Amino acid sequence: MTILKIAHIGHPVLRERARELSLEELGKDSTQTLIDDLVETMRDANGAGLAANQVHVSVRVCAIEVHDNPRYPYKPNIPLTILVNPTLTPVGDERFDNYEGCLSVPDLRGVVSRFAELRVQALDRAGRPIDCVVRGITAGTFQHEVDHLDGRLFVDRVTDTSTLCTWKEFAKWREAEFRTRVHQVVARWGS
Ligand code: NI
Repeated sequence: MTILKIAHIGHPVLRERARELSLEELGKDSTQTLIDDLVETMRDANGAGLAANQVHVSVRVCAIEVHDNPRYPYKPNIPLTILVNPTLTPVGDERFDNYEGCLSVPDLRGVVSRFAELRVQALDRAGRPIDCVVRGITAGTFQHEVDHLDGRLFVDRVTDTSTLCTWKEFAKWREAEFRTRVHQVVARWGS
């Protein structure tokens, strides 16, 4: 497996809508290798998720996984999930404020409003349908990754720019309060 280079904000590949994959393309060795490399690269960088266009391949595939993540120590765990051609549909209109960061936006975090409950429809890496509901902080992670596939970065959704901060200043000034908010979201939504 290969650790791939991650595109940074400013690279046009992050701003294109990634295209759907056909079932035939999904079954190809080259696509399956891409998915393996995407997972490897996400884990190497301690990401909670990684979209294919973040590694310069503009197709609708993303990986999500949280397992005691050192970049996001307060995030509830999410088992490794590969989404192919995903669509997200909000369930209800409840939202919460999520403090996000991104491997493609080095050393910046900011508050983004996210839906608290979502229906996820996609294919898994074997082409089998996924149809499930995700909630809370986990729902925030899913929205962040599918935004990538639509050419959108979290900074586009930051409405209060005074929340923007480096990771060091986040830890110093913002993290304690945000952890309290995370506990409330987890208590409400279970994840
Ligand atoms: Ni990201």
